[in-house]
Amino acid sequence: MKFSFYNPTRLIFGARCVSKLGEAAASYGSMALLVTGRGSVKRSGAFERAVESLKTAGVSFVECEGVEPNPRISTVRRGAEMIRRHRCDLVVALGGGSVMDAAKVMAAAALYEGDPWDMMYVRGRKPRLPDKALPVITVPTLAATGSEMNEGAVISSDELKVKTFVEAECLFPRVAVVDPELTLSVPRDHTAYGVSDIIAHLTEGYFNGVDGTPIQDGFAEAALRTVIRWGRVAVEDGSSLEARTQVQWASVVALNGWVQVGTRAYFPVHMMEHTLSALHDVPHGAGLAVLNPAWMSFAAPSRVEKFAAFARNVMEVQDRDDGSAAEEGIRRLREFLASIGCPSRISDMVDSPLEPVDYARATLDVAGDERGLLRGRPHMDLSDLEGIFKSVV
Ligand SMILES: [Fe+2]
Repeated sequence: MKFSFYNPTRLIFGARCVSKLGEAAASYGSMALLVTGRGSVKRSGAFERAVESLKTAGVSFVECEGVEPNPRISTVRRGAEMIRRHRCDLVVALGGGSVMDAAKVMAAAALYEGDPWDMMYVRGRKPRLPDKALPVITVPTLAATGSEMNEGAVISSDELKVKTFVEAECLFPRVAVVDPELTLSVPRDHTAYGVSDIIAHLTEGYFNGVDGTPIQDGFAEAALRTVIRWGRVAVEDGSSLEARTQVQWASVVALNGWVQVGTRAYFPVHMMEHTLSALHDVPHGAGLAVLNPAWMSFAAPSRVEKFAAFARNVMEVQDRDDGSAAEEGIRRLREFLASIGCPSRISDMVDSPLEPVDYARATLDVAGDERGLLRGRPHMDLSDLEGIFKSVV
C-alpha cells in the first residue's frame, strides 16, 4: 500500500448545526453566491434557516437558483457569470449533490481562463484542471453524494449528451455544514436513491481496489452495515432523526476519501450509471440500484472470496461455501434495494430503453481507455458491458 492523503474540508456535523453557517461564511467573505436547486429547500424551511444564519453573521448573498438534477455545464456558466457580476467572494451550496457539484465548479469557473467544460474528463483529451477557486461552503440537504467533503464534481453537457466529472484539489469545500435535520423532509424515493448511491460509493472501493487493505475493508463494511440498517428506517419513517443522522454520516464517510485511502479504486459502476443519467436523465441512485448488483454478478466469479466476505460481513450470509455465499450476498443486496423502492431494471425507469450495445458504447466513449477497456476489477470490454446492460434492460 502506498498513498498520499489530503482532505482540508472542515466538517461541522449534527442536528441544527446549520445555525453555524453564517459564522463559517463570514470568515471567508461578505458576499456569497447562494446556489440552490428547484425549490425544495424553500418548501422544507432549510433556505430560511440558512439565510437567517448568514444574515445574523452579516453575510450578504445573491441567489443562483434552479440548478437541475444532473447539473448542466450551461448552469455552471450562468453561476460563474453571476459570481463575476456581483463580485462574490465565496459560494454557499444549499442542496443535494447536483447543487453542490455545480457550485464547486462555478467557484472554479469564475477564476478560470476559458470554458469550464475544458476541466472535464472526456476520453481522448487531457482535461485542463482548475488550480484555484473561490471558497465554497456546502450545506447538503440530502444524504447521498458525499460531494460536501470531497474534491470531485459531476457535470453533464446538454449538447453532447455526456455526463462526466472533474477532480481537482481546489474543489475541496472549505467547510461542510452537515445538519441531518435538513434531510427530514426528503421524500421516500429520493431517500432510497441516496441510500443506493452511498452503498455504491462503498462497494466500488471495496471491490475495485488493490488487495491487502484490511482496514479499508473494515471501514467499508461498517459503513455498509450502517447505511443498510438505518437506510431502511429512514425510508420507512422519514421523520426519524436518528436514522437520518446515521445515513447522513455514512454519506460523508463513504466518499470523503477516507474509506478508499490506499485502495486506488476505480468506479466502473458509476461510469456505467453516468451513461443512463446522461441519456435518460434518471436519478443517479436509481440507475446505480439497477447496475450495481448486475455488475456484482458479472464480477463475482473472478473474485469469489471477496464477494463471499461481503456476503458474510455485510449481508449476514452464513453459507460456508464461498461461491454460494457470494451469490446469496448479491441476491440479498438486490432484494434490499427493491424493498426500499429502488428500480431493478432500466425499463422500470425508462419507457423505451436503448439496445444494450448502445449503452456499452456510450460508456466506453466517455470512460474507456486506449484499448477500449473500462478499468475496475476485472477490466471490462465492450461485450462485458453489453452483457451487464443486457441483464437489466
Ligand atoms: Fe454516486
